[in-house]
Amino acid sequence: MELRVSSRRIFRPLLALLLIGGAGVFSAAQAQTQPKAPDTMEARVQGCTACHGSHGQGTDNDYFPRLAGKPADYLYNQLQNFREGRRKYPPMNYLVTYLSDDYLHQIATYFSQQRPPYPQPAKAAASDDTVKRGKQIVLNGDPSKNIPACAACHGKALTGMEPAIPGLVGLHADYISAQLGAWRSGTRHAIAPDCMHEIATRLTDEDVSAVAAWLSTQPAPQNPVPAPARSMKTPLTCGSEPQ
Ligand code: HEC
Ligand code: HEC
Repeated sequence: MELRVSSRRIFRPLLALLLIGGAGVFSAAQAQTQPKAPDTMEARVQGCTACHGSHGQGTDNDYFPRLAGKPADYLYNQLQNFREGRRKYPPMNYLVTYLSDDYLHQIATYFSQQRPPYPQPAKAAASDDTVKRGKQIVLNGDPSKNIPACAACHGKALTGMEPAIPGLVGLHADYISAQLGAWRSGTRHAIAPDCMHEIATRLTDEDVSAVAAWLSTQPAPQNPVPAPARSMKTPLTCGSEPQ
């Protein structure tokens, strides 16, 4: 399982980068004979869509996350996190190294406004008990371990909250468990106080597999937009949310 994920994490991105690199050479050669292409948003995000899908819907690869419809400030925070090294994934770190705040903000806004359909929810890939435990944690938390309900911040419909809490629908189980693992091991950080670090360190490996299994089987709601800002009182303080 681990091996499967890690080989995909290494080889697919490399392939995509080669494709992007190849496209760069092609357009450089082309530029000598043709006028410069206009600097449209579609042109700017071309290097992103190989992995994140033409409208940020994600790709069949279990590890390339959906961007579409997540709150703009959430996406912007992540692009800054990759640029400043608070999140580590070499192709992402490399791609945003030299991009300005203004440019990143425009890209974040663009993907937040995309509304491609959601993928078919996954079939449960874990035992009934595991999936049930996942549902319990997401909707009600586990007071005995001081774990708040995920839905208290990510919303009952799991579509997140403006301006900076992401939706959790439309993500693959592998991606969700990798992110929770990254918070536990300290390779992913958010703006302090990092509430997700607090929460992830209260989860066991079994809890992580359970929430990832249940979340990945959830269909998107009819109107998959993030809840309005401040419509939920978050049980912990998160640095990325205005108080
Ligand atoms: C080589 C494949 C690849 C390319 C190209 C790529 N990404 Fe990513 N991106 C990923 C992967 C994989 C992750 C998740 C990394 C992790 O944290 O483990 C990610 C994460 C992200 C996130 C955070 C998503 C979230 O929900 O937290 C954003 C935002 C993002 N990418 C935007 C972009 C933009 C904008 C571009 C183009 C400039 C781009 N990506 C190009 C693979 C790619
Ligand atoms: C106190 C509010 C709060 C609670 C409770 C909470 N989260 Fe979060 N979560 C956040 C915030 C804020 C972010 C964005 C962090 C950042 O900027 O990187 C986030 C991000 C995430 C992400 C990253 C999504 C992506 O696209 O990369 C995952 C996965 C996640 N949370 C899962 C969970 C799970 C599972 C639970 C319940 C066990 C949970 N969260 C409970 C506030 C919360």
